[in-house]
Amino acid sequence: MSDRQKKPESMGEKDVVDLLLAQHSLIRDLFDEVEKAPAEARAEAFQRLVRLLAVHETAEEEVVHPYARRKIDGGEGVVDDRLAEENEAKQLLMRMDKAGVEDPQFLTDLAVLRAAVMAHARSEERYEFTQLRAQTSEAERRALAAGVKAAEALAPTHPHAGVESATKNLLVGTPVAMMDRARDVIRQAMGKTG
Ligand SMILES: [Fe+2]
Ligand SMILES: [Fe+2]
Repeated sequence: MSDRQKKPESMGEKDVVDLLLAQHSLIRDLFDEVEKAPAEARAEAFQRLVRLLAVHETAEEEVVHPYARRKIDGGEGVVDDRLAEENEAKQLLMRMDKAGVEDPQFLTDLAVLRAAVMAHARSEERYEFTQLRAQTSEAERRALAAGVKAAEALAPTHPHAGVESATKNLLVGTPVAMMDRARDVIRQAMGKTG
């Protein structure tokens, strides 16, 4: 992260690794919000977390992991391990979404999910993103950012007036439905740029 020499005027896109690291921070903040939310606000905060996780993990699966698989040393193994972690977290997320925030197990499950998701994020940062940054060009990483940004637009984490109405209802339903929708949008965005 020390090698950044950005020339904002020449940057069409951000570096995909920077975008994903920023999302990891947002995910951690949203876990905090859900944990601290009073009961009546918990469902809404949890929905924002589910949306962000759906777009983040789908963007990684569609854009970043396939690229890392081909580009980094030992990519096959690194990415298979990350996908296994993602799938495990996804199973729990789907169970929690189905049970709802009123479920007596909710906060216990949330702590388990948080530990799993954050451990997974640390492994990505350590074993995947560092190598991706070292073994790809800035232009490659900017091109990959388009898919992540397209997905991110579906999941406003701090809705503002105006922005909220423009993006409202883009991502609704079960986590699986959200991931399907995010996948469509990402594939469209990458098709356009690629
Ligand atoms: Fe991930
Ligand atoms: Fe991630």
